[in-house]
Amino acid sequence: MGSPQPPPLAHVFRGTFVHSSRSQPMEILHEHLLGVDDSGTIVFLEQSDQQEQLAKKWGFRTSDIRELSNYEFFMPGMVDTHIHAPQYSFTGTRVDLPLLQWLTTYTFPTEAKYKDSDFAEEVYTRVVRRTLKNGTTTACYFATIYTDTSLLLAEILDKFGQRAFVGKVCMDVNDSVPQYKEITADSVQETERFVKELLEKKYPRVQPIITPRFGPSCTEDLLHALGNLAQAHDLHVQSHISENEEEVKVVENMFPAYQNYTELYDKNKLLTSKTVMAHACHLSEEELKLFSLRGAAISHCPSSNFSLCSGILNVQMVLKHDVKLGLGTALGLDDVIGNFEVGKEFDALLINTKASDSPFDLFSADNFEDTVQKFLYLGDDRNISEVYVAGKQVVPFSSSV
Ligand code: GUN
Ligand code: FE
Repeated sequence: MGSPQPPPLAHVFRGTFVHSSRSQPMEILHEHLLGVDDSGTIVFLEQSDQQEQLAKKWGFRTSDIRELSNYEFFMPGMVDTHIHAPQYSFTGTRVDLPLLQWLTTYTFPTEAKYKDSDFAEEVYTRVVRRTLKNGTTTACYFATIYTDTSLLLAEILDKFGQRAFVGKVCMDVNDSVPQYKEITADSVQETERFVKELLEKKYPRVQPIITPRFGPSCTEDLLHALGNLAQAHDLHVQSHISENEEEVKVVENMFPAYQNYTELYDKNKLLTSKTVMAHACHLSEEELKLFSLRGAAISHCPSSNFSLCSGILNVQMVLKHDVKLGLGTALGLDDVIGNFEVGKEFDALLINTKASDSPFDLFSADNFEDTVQKFLYLGDDRNISEVYVAGKQVVPFSSSV
């Protein structure tokens, strides 16, 4: 008797796979076969000449193989480490003020509208669809201070199949827009409810994240309580830090007992190996050392920094201090996603470099690496024909969502 057959595979693809590995920033694997099991896990990635042995071992037929054309390839899904779902309604507008004035003039009044679940449902559905269609398979979201509509965002994410962290925003200081702030005790209690109710839903790929907005929006009591909560439940943490100079001064004045902004988070147990802090343009070398010591990550947001004239992150300096850095990435999911290693979940984009309405042109002198680069620099959702999260095809959208 032979060994028992494994359960049928969800997908077998044959063609080109582009990803990065520890040893190679860009690895292009032509003529390969990739298999995904029904839990969404990659079970093999081997050269196509291994087809016969793989077919025997995994029990698939030639007709089960999806063959890519020679102008298509798979690449890993994209990870957005910092996105504000409620701000999607005004994305692309209102970038004429510096950070603190931008927050009080546009952002807080808009976020206050998310108490209304109909409004929240519309915008949250659109931001999840739009980001998925553009190839974001994982995103780390800020919602608003409202627990119920933050839970609604999580429900929408689960329905559309995007992998995500969702944070109910916590803020108990807001002198300019006082209707958009919480009482300290309520903020903590509501965060506990948010975490509990979200975990009870048992969504497979949507997790809660503790989200103090940033230093100027929080009292020390709130930061302290949120740090304890994060520690007690071993949760991820996200916030903003040192985005612009005015903000850094406000924090210095509000919290004179702390050496610097990073220490404010650190002493309140909010700077851990599960923390991602956005912007970080104006951190000192001493602060970067503390980030590195704690294993906390920075989310680099160059587009926002440019639009609001907030500052420029010195990426070389961040890397010199061995601090984890991601573009809006590095969420600590690197043992689950990020490339096509066997054992990881299949989060992937099928790229068609010759889509009929492709925004770039290919010429005979272009080699495959040029083609990949053209997609990375010039391509967009017109080139993304399919999106997969954990082996499930989430774009094109299914008729049931
Ligand atoms: N700092 C605190 N809140 C925000 C926000 O919503 N956007 C940006 N860019 N910075 C912040
Ligand atoms: Fe932000």
